[in-house]
Order: sequence, then C-alpha cells, then structure tokens
Amino acid sequence: MASGKGGVGKSTVAANLAVALEQTGARVGLCDCDIYGPSISQMFGTRERPMATEENKIVPIEQYGLRLMSMGFLLDDTSPAILRGPMVTRYTQQFLRQVEWGELDYLVLDLPPGTGDIQLTIVQTVALSGAIVVTTPQEVALIDARKAATMFDKVNVPVLGLIENMSYFVSPSDGKRYDIFGSGGGEREAKRLRVPLLGQIPIDIATREAGDRGIPIVGEDRRSPVTAEFKKIAEHLRKTLAQ
Ligand SMILES: Nc1ncnc2c1ncn2[C@@H]1O[C@H](COP(=O)(O)OP(=O)(O)OP(=O)(O)O)[C@@H](O)[C@H]1O
Ligand SMILES: [Mg+2]
Repeated sequence: MASGKGGVGKSTVAANLAVALEQTGARVGLCDCDIYGPSISQMFGTRERPMATEENKIVPIEQYGLRLMSMGFLLDDTSPAILRGPMVTRYTQQFLRQVEWGELDYLVLDLPPGTGDIQLTIVQTVALSGAIVVTTPQEVALIDARKAATMFDKVNVPVLGLIENMSYFVSPSDGKRYDIFGSGGGEREAKRLRVPLLGQIPIDIATREAGDRGIPIVGEDRRSPVTAEFKKIAEHLRKTLAQ
C-alpha cells in the first residue's frame, strides 16, 4: 500500500484490506514498513512485545487472525523512532527477512509516504507481486500518486491498481452525498496510468473511529458500505494475483 502523499489513508486501507483478505480464507500477514511513523499496532489495538525464536527470528504478533509486525511493538507509546538512515534500512530488511512469517498467502506491506529509502530497500529485499497506490481525489494527492506509480514502474513492480480513499461523504442526517475532495480524480488518474481503479472508499466516521479503537472496520461491522467495498477489492485481488 503506497502513495506519494502522507495522510491519504494508506494504513487504514492496508489494515482493512488485510482483514478482508483474511476473511476470504487466506493466510495473511501485515508488515508496517513505516519505521518512523508506525500505525498498525494502534489500528490493531495491541502493543504486545514480539518474542524471538531460538534462531533469533522475530515472532509476529497475532491479532484478529492476522500476523502483524510493526515498529509500534518495539517502541513504547511516547518515544519517537529517532533513527539514522542505515538503521531504518536495517529495520526494514529485518521486518521482511528476520520475521518468522510462516506460510502466508499474502503479505501486505504498509509503506510510509513518498518514494524514499524505505521503498527502495523493500524493492531490493523482496520480490513484490504488486503495488497498490492509495490516493484521495484531490490534485495534490494525485500528483504524488503518479510519482509513486512511476517509481514502481521503474523497478518493474506491477501496479495492481489505484484505491481512491475519502472519495465522498454521505451525510448521516440527510443521506446526501458530498464530494468533499472533488470527484472523478481517481478514475481519471487510473485511466492515465492504465491501471484499474480498484475501489472508492467514502469518508466515514465509523471507519476512523474503528481504526482509533484498534479494530479495522472490516473486522467490526459486516454491514458497513466501507466493508463491502474492501471485500470487493479483496476478491478482485485474489483473482488477479492467482493468475
Ligand atoms: N475513509 C476514511 N474515512 C474516515 N477517516 C479516514 C478514512 N481513511 C483514513 N481515515 C483517517 O485519516 C487519518 C489518516 O489515515 P492513515 O493513517 O490511514 O493515513 P496514511 O496515508 O497511512 O498516513 P501516513 O502517510 O502518515 O502514513 C486516520 O486518522 C484515519 O483514521
Ligand atoms: Mg500510514
């Protein structure tokens, strides 16, 4: 789950998509590659400390049927990750190589914003089946999404598609739809990049609350329209990646 821009909802999408994939019966791991600003530990409501195996591998944390790794499990709440570049590279490599992920059908990676060192380390460490770019419908986000897609193209990682987050808002009081960040941006950008628009996630209060409470909305509310959208995306990915 990548994007150029910060705060567009990569971690929210990664968390919910991972749960949606698990609900299709797959074995799923979720690796929080945002070493400086981890959020997966928070979004899954656990700060359990990972154990090490005898071979010095890190045992991922199990939550809601998923295997998780996040810098949030290694730091306490208040201390920021103050790390020099080489340390970040080392942590990124460790998360991918030194974690006892076991047999998995999917390993979802939640990336930090931008096209920096961590992204580079990842593509040099593992063979990715594909990248998903998350954007909002705004031009500023779309420009950065394009940069992210271009970066993956350059390193021969197929871009599986675009997910437009915060696409619209349906007012709970009158049921009216508001296009807060504009409309059609994701669709236009997907066409331009010649990749599918995998889904459009509305701005949803329950989704934000669920994330803050430590259980992704897909794991909490089966009837939410957001859950339905993530299920659709998960089904699509299962088919695409099975080919
Ligand atoms: N569809 C949505 N509806 C409502 N709130 C959302 C939605 N998507 C994300 N958010 C909220 O927006 C905030 C930022 O989301 P998130 O942390 O997923 O973004 P990010 O792209 O991973 O950010 P960063 O670049 O800092 O890693 C969070 O508080 C999250 O709960
Ligand atoms: Mg994030």
